[in-house]
Amino acid sequence: MHGCGSIMLWGCFAAGGTGALHKIDGIMRKKNYVYILKQHLKTSVKKLNLGRKWVFQMNNDPKHTSKVVAKCLKDNKVKVFEWPSQSPDLSPIEHLWAELNKCVRARRPTNLTQLHQLCQEEWAKIHPTYCGKLVEGYQKRLTQVEHFKGNATKY
Ligand SMILES: *[C@@H]1O[C@H](CO)[C@@H](O)[C@H](O)[C@H]1NC(C)=O
Ligand SMILES: *[C@@H]1O[C@H](CO)[C@@H](O)[C@H](O)[C@H]1NC(C)=O
Repeated sequence: MHGCGSIMLWGCFAAGGTGALHKIDGIMRKKNYVYILKQHLKTSVKKLNLGRKWVFQMNNDPKHTSKVVAKCLKDNKVKVFEWPSQSPDLSPIEHLWAELNKCVRARRPTNLTQLHQLCQEEWAKIHPTYCGKLVEGYQKRLTQVEHFKGNATKY
C-alpha cells in the first residue's frame, strides 16, 4: 500500500515480476484488505506461475495482521511468512514503490485519472529481473538478520 501522489495503491510482487496493483478508494480498512486479498492474491499467483510453492509476506501493518485477515488467509490456505521482529527497513516492496513513483512522476501526470493509469502502465512494465533482484537482496539481508539474532554479541 502506498500513497502514489494522492491515490492509494495496494500491490504485490514475486521474484518473477509484479502481480496485481489495486487502487484503494477512501480509507483502507480491515475488511477492504480482506477484499483485496480475495480479489487479487490468487490471480497474481496464477499470473506469476508460482504454483503451490510460495509464501505470502505482508507489510507489518495492524490492518494486515488482524483476525479477519488471518482467517481469510487461513481459509484460503495461504502460507504467511513471519517477519523477523526487528526489521523495519527490510520490506523489499518499498523499493518497488520508489521505482514506480519515479517512473510515473517522470511522465508528469496532470490529473488523478491519468495518475492511476500511468501507475498501472509503469507497474506492468517493471522488469521481472528487477523484482528478482529485490527478492534476492532481501533474502541476503534476512539471512544476516537471522544470523545476528542468533548471536546478540554481534550487535
Ligand atoms: C486527464 O489528463 C489527460 C491527459 O492530459 C486527459 O486526456 C484527460 O482528459 C484528463 N481527464 C480528466 C478527467 O480531466
Ligand atoms: C557468538 O559470538 C561469540 C563471540 O564473538 C563467538 O565466540 C561464537 O562462536 C558466536 N556464536 C555463534 C553461534 O555465531
